[in-house]
Amino acid sequence: PTFLHQIAGSPKAELHIHIEGSLEPELIFALAERHGITLPYASIEALRAAYAFTDLQSFLNVYYAGAGVLLEAEDFYQMTRAYIERARADNVIHSEIFFDPQTHTERGVPMAAMLEGIEAALAEAERADGFSSRLILCFLRHLSEESAHEALAQALPLLGRYAHRLIGVGLDSSELGHPPSKFERVFAQARRAGLRAVAHAGEEGPPDYIYQALDLLKVDRIDHGVRASEDPALVRRLADSRIALTVCPLSNLKLCVFDDMRKHTLKSLLDAGVAITINSDDPAYFGGYVNANYIAAADALTLSAAEVRTIAANSFEAAFISADERAGMM
Ligand code: ADE
Ligand code: ZN
Repeated sequence: PTFLHQIAGSPKAELHIHIEGSLEPELIFALAERHGITLPYASIEALRAAYAFTDLQSFLNVYYAGAGVLLEAEDFYQMTRAYIERARADNVIHSEIFFDPQTHTERGVPMAAMLEGIEAALAEAERADGFSSRLILCFLRHLSEESAHEALAQALPLLGRYAHRLIGVGLDSSELGHPPSKFERVFAQARRAGLRAVAHAGEEGPPDYIYQALDLLKVDRIDHGVRASEDPALVRRLADSRIALTVCPLSNLKLCVFDDMRKHTLKSLLDAGVAITINSDDPAYFGGYVNANYIAAADALTLSAAEVRTIAANSFEAAFISADERAGMM
């Protein structure tokens, strides 16, 4: 249908993509072979067959195992290059990319090696066709506050060199039991260093975690935030403040946040005036890149062409770019 065709062809920004979640099984196996790593899966097909998740944690276990093949700058370069190719094919012209340094430093990979490899691919894409991007360093919330402070301390000396790219911090991994309040101090330090702030909140966690992300971490956007719909006052606050939600429909379906896409809350949040965006989260694991997410949501929730245009416009409005850059993209 022409409408779905239009969705695919229109320019968009992606604001919620974990670069480690773009690692396709083929590349996981190629990198494992390069490094002599034995994977707990016999084949690419066996690995793909393990992508049957019951909740966020069941996914994270597989996701961290997959990321275990990333050891050298070259690995990060290849992974990022492959993501950009997929994003470009979906008419993504600007991407704000999360990375999870603690899962790599734990295996002895220096922060500098990750950044070197990711940046090489991003800079190359920018030179090639103007592909625009930023990087957001995510703290793993299942680890300690001290570990988050260490990750920030490792990044701070590199901020000068990557000032054009590394512009924010985020918070991801196991949400339940790890409220934003645990990371109030490290976020304050990051903001003092001039970094923007985002956090996953209200994916599996309660609306209270969204309030904490806003009030304690002082975030500029909420990642997921789909449980905001349970609290009308919170919905009004999000709408009034134009704090965007980076929603990931296929992720929510695969991780059983909703058992049916028709029950997704993004449509009612959009109707209430919340700045909804659509993103892919971990596209290699959830069955689709950004266009597949737009189409799945538009289909199940019968979004109008105007609503989809609003969502794409929101993605540029909520992006961490200058007014001049925005004017050139919209
Ligand atoms: N890390 C990668 N994807 C994530 C998600 N959807 N929620 C929390 N942590 C994540
Ligand atoms: Zn995410």
